Amino acid sequence: MIIRLSILFLFFSLLACSNPKSEASSVPKENTKSESHDMAHNHTHVHNRVDYHSHSKPEKAVTKHLSLDLKADFESKTLSGSVLHKIENNNAEEIIFDIKGLAIDKVVLNDKDEVEFKITENDNFIGQALTVSIVPSTKEVKIYYATKPDAAAVQWLDPIQTTDKKYPFLFTQGQAILTRTWIPCQDSPGIRITYDAKIEVPKELMAVMSAKNPKSKSEDGIYNFEMKQPIPSYLIALAIGDLEFKEIGPRTGVYAEPSMLEKAYYEFGDMEKMLISAEQLYGPYLWDQYDVIVLPASFPFGGMENPRLTFATPTILAGDRSLTALIAHELAHSWSGNFVTNATWDDFWLNEGFTVYFERRIMEALYGEDYTKMLTQLGYQDLMNEINDLGHSSKDTHLKLDLHGRDPDDGMTDIAYEKGSLFLMQLEQLVGREKFDQFLKKYFTDHKFQTITTKEFIVYLKENLLQENGVEYDIDQWIFSADIPADHFKVESDRLKKVEAYLSDQMKAGSWDTGGTIKWTTHEWLHYIRELPKNLTVDQAKEIDRVFGFSKSGNSEILAAWLEASINNGYYKNVTPELETFLVNVGRRKFLKPLYSALINAGDMGLAKKIYSKARPTYHSVSTNTMDALLKE
Ligand code: BES
Ligand code: ZN
Repeated sequence: MIIRLSILFLFFSLLACSNPKSEASSVPKENTKSESHDMAHNHTHVHNRVDYHSHSKPEKAVTKHLSLDLKADFESKTLSGSVLHKIENNNAEEIIFDIKGLAIDKVVLNDKDEVEFKITENDNFIGQALTVSIVPSTKEVKIYYATKPDAAAVQWLDPIQTTDKKYPFLFTQGQAILTRTWIPCQDSPGIRITYDAKIEVPKELMAVMSAKNPKSKSEDGIYNFEMKQPIPSYLIALAIGDLEFKEIGPRTGVYAEPSMLEKAYYEFGDMEKMLISAEQLYGPYLWDQYDVIVLPASFPFGGMENPRLTFATPTILAGDRSLTALIAHELAHSWSGNFVTNATWDDFWLNEGFTVYFERRIMEALYGEDYTKMLTQLGYQDLMNEINDLGHSSKDTHLKLDLHGRDPDDGMTDIAYEKGSLFLMQLEQLVGREKFDQFLKKYFTDHKFQTITTKEFIVYLKENLLQENGVEYDIDQWIFSADIPADHFKVESDRLKKVEAYLSDQMKAGSWDTGGTIKWTTHEWLHYIRELPKNLTVDQAKEIDRVFGFSKSGNSEILAAWLEASINNGYYKNVTPELETFLVNVGRRKFLKPLYSALINAGDMGLAKKIYSKARPTYHSVSTNTMDALLKE
């Protein structure tokens, strides 16, 4: 038996070696566990790819392609229809899907036989296992189902919650484990699928997905989509609304509600250039088109890297293109995250750390080193704050996480982003930029349309960068240890230093009136606000606000930073209306968390709860989940 197996293995190894790498259109050989794939690539370690956050057992039967057929009903707030799974069946007697809160109607095999299925009890945040009995010849499993109005991924917005206030809106958010709340699927980032979809919506609305998209409304409200490249389930996304499209460049464009379209078009004017510079850095963009959709303000994130169509918050429309690093970030995910995907949520830093590093390289290419150093230094401050919040010895400050038994959302902190990118900057320092860039380019090419664990990355890093360049460096201290290594790379922005000097002069003089001569960008202002002394008097805060107008700023980052500083300074009673308006209109978690937390720390749980009770119905579940926990005390 052993002999026969090894002959078989040899055969497959040869096959693997003689086969060219999987192309954009072909499904990759490896989806989940596959020792032979690894060994064929001469990796000697044994790896462990158990995803605690999915019930699916892909080694038995795994989806390769899914076809959605759904109708969106804004009256009942439901998506209903079916999903057809084309599967790879390893002689299995059952196939397991993840679901959460879905109404399953019936399951049909190979388009003819209705079969039995079982659904387990809801396992907290992970949801339920939908187990379908199959036979070895089963190739297709079709599930008829409907979502419930409170499906966690989906937000149904009344017209009043949109920017134009005329039509309803819907958007989904899949990452990390929410796709199972609107599609029965094997919801693990280690499993890649292609998909197509037919979506029916009210005639006055347009539907778009993380797929090839329409550029105008259809006559009948029916839209067909295709995603040819294999993606993990968390990247399946849908938005429906009164949308218009405007082209920015040959491969780039923007979708938005009509009143925001021109503003968005201006704001993202450099998008095509970003795409070109990203390709120059790390190789061709293989998703054909790159568009951004500007969503209503309840979108719980700044951006979400849904392939071909980044979902974005309208709070980055500052009017001066100063918050577009976020677009560079989501674009960079087309490589780090969407080509090469974290195999489990414990490896989240492989998605976000690489993306922050890549984002800043794009920004540097477009706007220069001075500009980017500001971003890096502000990011470093975020990292320091995060480490303080988590605790210097907390395991959640490791790059490699352990989220077993927890909601993966708990691990999605600035550690992955900022410690991750700092680690990559450190590696860049060790070998020099040229070699590091070659390495990254090869890393993306070698892993395109595949998933990777932290352990696998470490082996790859040693083999392809460190050993080759004779670098002896303790990388484990970054990946498996708390806090950050003492010898970490440091960045100092001259522009931010000047801001500090300016502020210190003002404090000495006790005067903030500048005569209007300062020409700073958003990041300098942010630094200025962050650096304001913690013990400003109410009169000083009032004077600063009078001079600079922070509480009236149209720039969401500046406004949020000022509101937070105001709460910390006990000045917020003067800006309560602005604070309330902001918290009721904006659902972006990154802003909500610090503002509500600051109120709680200032001892004003009363105001926090009062505003929250008004704002909560306007938030997406991702935000209410976090805020409910925070405001419980
Ligand atoms: N993929 C993330 C958003 C995300 C993370 C969704 C974890 C669900 C779980 C996205 O790429 C992101 O990082 N967005 C940031 C913006 C960025 C510039 C740091 C955000 O939303 O603030
Ligand atoms: Zn990201």
